[in-house]
Parts: sequence; C-alpha cells; structure tokens
Amino acid sequence: MEVLVLPTPEDVARRAAEVVIAGLVDAARAEPALGLATGSSPLGLYAELATAVTSGRLDLRSARGFALDEYVGLPERHPQSYREVLLREVCRPLGLPPDRLHVPDGSGRDEAALVAAAQAYERLLLDAGGVDVQILGIGANGHLGFNEPGSALSSRTRVKRLSERTRSDNARFFEGPDDVPTHCVTQGLGTVLDARRLVLVASGAAKAEAVAAALEGPLSASCPGSVLQWHADATVVLDEAAATGLRNRDYYDASASGLPEPVTRRPKAW
Ligand code: GLP
Repeated sequence: MEVLVLPTPEDVARRAAEVVIAGLVDAARAEPALGLATGSSPLGLYAELATAVTSGRLDLRSARGFALDEYVGLPERHPQSYREVLLREVCRPLGLPPDRLHVPDGSGRDEAALVAAAQAYERLLLDAGGVDVQILGIGANGHLGFNEPGSALSSRTRVKRLSERTRSDNARFFEGPDDVPTHCVTQGLGTVLDARRLVLVASGAAKAEAVAAALEGPLSASCPGSVLQWHADATVVLDEAAATGLRNRDYYDASASGLPEPVTRRPKAW
C-alpha cells in the first residue's frame, strides 16, 4: 500500500489523476476498464482527468466505466441516481461514451429482480476482463462503495441496506433525509479487491478517523475500507486534514520520497 499525503485537496486530485492515468497506461488494453466512485471525494480527480482528455493525454472513447454501486428504487433518470451522476460528472466531461458506462441496476421491483441484477453485474465485470483501475472514496463510517460496516470481506455484488449514518451523510444530495433510499446494489468488497489497481482519495478532517482505521486498524468487516490492506496495488492519496489520525506518517513520507541514488554512484565507504 502506498500512502501519499499532500497539502491540499487540489494536490490530491492532481496526484491521484496521475496514478489513475498510469494505471490505465500500464493496463495496455484496447478497452481499459475504469472503476468509478460517486460522492464528492473524486470530483476534483475527475476534473483533472477531464483536463488530461482535453489536452490529448488521455482518451477514454474506447474505455469502459464500471460504477461501484446504485441506489434501489429511485425513479428512472432521477438526478441523484448514480447512473445520472456518472453521466454528468464523468461521461460528458471525460468523453466516456454513455453506452460504455455500466451501473448496477437498482430498478428491480422485488428481491428476485434485484438479486438477478446484482449477479448480472458480476458477470458483466468478468466478461469485461475485470477492472484495471478502481477509483474509491471512503465513507465517514469506513464504507467502500456502499459496503457498510459488517460487510463480508469476500462479498460480491448484492443488495444491501444503507446505514442511517450513510443516509444522513447523503441527505445533502436529496430534498430531505427521508428521500434518501434505504437500500442499494453495491459491488462487494471481494469484487472491489479483484480490480488490478485501487486508488483511494480522501480529503478533510471528517475522513481522518475512517482513514486511520482503514489504513492502520485491523483488517476487519467493522471497517470495510481496511480491505485496502489486503490489496497488492493500492494507492491512497490524502490531504493533510484527512491524514491527521495516521501513526506511521513518517514512514509514508519517507517511502514517497522514492528510491535512493543508485549504490554505484555513491562513494565507497570502506
Ligand atoms: C457514497 C458512495 C461511496 C463514497 C462515499 C463517500 O455514499 N457510495 O462510494 O466513497 O459515500 O462520499 P463523499 O466522497 O461524498 O464523502
């Protein structure tokens, strides 16, 4: 796990965009798969990626986008459905064709329909060859996607109830707290772990506790974000405020400064 702490949210967005672009280049696939998170955290990162598209450094016309999650029961085209959010925040500004955006289907009218939709999403991910780079935010309660505390570490895409904490955190996007759906279809933690590279961004003091639990607490269903510790290629990009709870900060900063000069260039000390 690589932990990069930068002065401001703008620096976080810029640096995370570089990590995402490098991951897509490393994937070297004709149709790379980019995993997309919603929420406020990745918005700056998406804006940086949009700048890279405008300048010709990045081209997502043949890429595929896979959302982490979707609310259950919102009317079609509801502006806060994650499909609509991603069409607005990602497809348009980044030139990802709308028909190449995939979002779990939360429109099922009964449990069987929702379960079938979740399983279909798993098959879609498999058929696409998996996600190359997964962008992640983290909830203030440590959730990843909509995997609330208590989610199985090996879980797959499924229907879940949202915690009251998450519903009240997300009420700002709706007219009132009661308008926030109670359920979602979310990739599981096992699904997220299948992505080849994870890039998590977090800014602000409100995330400090969740970030510290995810990065330095035990690997535990009580903090879904702690699955990052299990992944072989995870980069976490934080601003100073989100990093305040970290105990190993010195080590992260030292690691981020890179490898030493080649030994051959050093004068012999013996
Ligand atoms: C949302 C999303 C998550 C997101 C998180 C944090 O509910 N389902 O994918 O990471 O909550 O949101 P924000 O970045 O707005 O704090």
